[in-house]
Amino acid sequence: MCGIIGFTGSSPAVPILLDGLEHLEYRGYDSAGVAVISPEKGLQIQKRKGRLSALREKLDGLPPLEGTTGVGHTRWATHGEPNDVNSHPHVSQNGRVAIVHNGIIENYAEIKEFLLHRGVRFRSDTDSEVVAQLLDYYFTDGSDPLDAVYRVLEKLEGAYALGILCADRPDMLIAARKDAPLLLGYGQGENFIASDATAIIARTRTVAYMEDGEVAVLTPRGIDVYDEYRRPVEKQRHTIDWDVSAAEKGGYAHFMFKEIMEQPEALRHTVSPRLRDGEVAFDELSLTEEKLRSFRRIFIVACGSSYHVGMLGKYSLERFLRLPVEVCLASEFRYSSPLVDERSLVIVISQSGETLDSMAALREAKALGGYILSIVNVVGSSIARESDDVLYTWAGPEIAVATTKAYSTQLVLLTMFGLWMARALGRAGGPEYAAVTAELGLLPEKLETVLAGTDVYQYLASLYFNRDCVFFIGRNLDYALGLEGSLKLKEISYIHSESYAAGELKHGTISLIEPGTLVVALATYGPLIDKAVSNIVEVKARGAEVVALTTESQRERMEKLADHVMVIPDTHPALQPNLGVVPLQLFAYYIALQRGCDIDKPKNLAKSVTVE
Ligand code: G6P
Repeated sequence: MCGIIGFTGSSPAVPILLDGLEHLEYRGYDSAGVAVISPEKGLQIQKRKGRLSALREKLDGLPPLEGTTGVGHTRWATHGEPNDVNSHPHVSQNGRVAIVHNGIIENYAEIKEFLLHRGVRFRSDTDSEVVAQLLDYYFTDGSDPLDAVYRVLEKLEGAYALGILCADRPDMLIAARKDAPLLLGYGQGENFIASDATAIIARTRTVAYMEDGEVAVLTPRGIDVYDEYRRPVEKQRHTIDWDVSAAEKGGYAHFMFKEIMEQPEALRHTVSPRLRDGEVAFDELSLTEEKLRSFRRIFIVACGSSYHVGMLGKYSLERFLRLPVEVCLASEFRYSSPLVDERSLVIVISQSGETLDSMAALREAKALGGYILSIVNVVGSSIARESDDVLYTWAGPEIAVATTKAYSTQLVLLTMFGLWMARALGRAGGPEYAAVTAELGLLPEKLETVLAGTDVYQYLASLYFNRDCVFFIGRNLDYALGLEGSLKLKEISYIHSESYAAGELKHGTISLIEPGTLVVALATYGPLIDKAVSNIVEVKARGAEVVALTTESQRERMEKLADHVMVIPDTHPALQPNLGVVPLQLFAYYIALQRGCDIDKPKNLAKSVTVE
């Protein structure tokens, strides 16, 4: 979704803004723009539909924009089509204010109406422009711009992260946040705002996270932060400890491929510190045994692939804990009068920690008395900060829109949490607990063996890249895993695909199976292999071409049945999806590659979905 960077210092702003925007590209966008101010030239703005390269091209053909204070923006269109005019920054009619905005101003129509009646002319179809115009309307020459900012914020409904420039203050940048991510960066004689740390890490590692209602005034000399009542706030500063190279491609053609390959290492980071003498240990959790005993029900709330992790987690958690687990799409949860109370554990899963629907669901659950445990990748993100307890996945920055290593680490962490809680409650049977924990430690090595043989996925992709439709089928954990396999394929290759519980086939879907239809049959879940075989036979009988995903121990059997097989090492059934997801990621990756798709930045998608 929209990405914001702001800079104030003594170096020319434009190269710094463009570099920052390049690091925010991964969030997903359809246009980009920059605005800078200089004492001589005032506000100068350039923006363009399309990729950042189009904006760079435009800027290259113009005299350089002068100024050492500015803002940059990548826009993911919500209100108004992606075009040059609707791109940010937006400037007010009198040219006194320029703003960049992430989020949605829900009452923009009302504000627009108010301003239209007062003679203000709008240029764009966006909700965001009302912020620039209203600010200008409240501005009185020579007064403190913060007065106008606070008056405007009072009127806004919805979500916003804002970067504001005032033409007559060439060394000042104002930022405001409500329900959309924004952080402050503290440099040497220069300061920053950014949607996330990747945009500024090349220049500073010291950041502070803005909270809802806060307003910040940045100059090259420092940052002053105020709360919603305009009282000064002392911000806690954090140091970003990951390397810049972690957010760069490092010789790989795509971030997605790099991140697939990083999974063994990511799993080591997630698992090793939490596995001691064959026991799962979560030193970071403050949950007490008494609290754990009070839970009668578990809710898992998430979006997208994180939701698919929850679908898998339900099977393991119910098995380990014998407690009912409900998995909910965050966007549905908040409007469904959820039955959360003080005896509910609510697990929110989010890579970014900023997904607006997940955040809103978290707040709803908290208000109902639920205990919030989040599983998050981005340290210090909003969801992490508002949870009662956090388990960080430690996967490192994930840049490709389609998640891979974050999914894998979320999954292993959720399973480990189930084991840990079962142990604490005395519900984990000795042999099974020991078997799963022993296999946990072996997962990274087994994953390495899967990643060592990518040829097979390349070959399969060469056979099937031009299909229009693919079905994924599986039972139990294989069903939940198929949901992720199908999503991976459709989001990066734009092939229509569906995932079905294999037992449901005969209740409708089987009518779509024709000679040549591609079916990816997941057959990794040991206890139900015979059932999987029956379903493969059923679709083969109707002419389907079957690619089976199976384990080493079932290879022979599957080779006789399916047209092709993808094989993973055997592990404990509860962990099998951790290995099984990797061939599905690679299959999707190579198909998208063959189709010439923009793999890291699929059309219309965003990495961090910060609007409802
Ligand atoms: C977007 C991403 C998905 C992700 C989902 C949830 O749709 O493209 O990869 O699974 O958001 O994001 P989260 O950051 O909350 O896990």
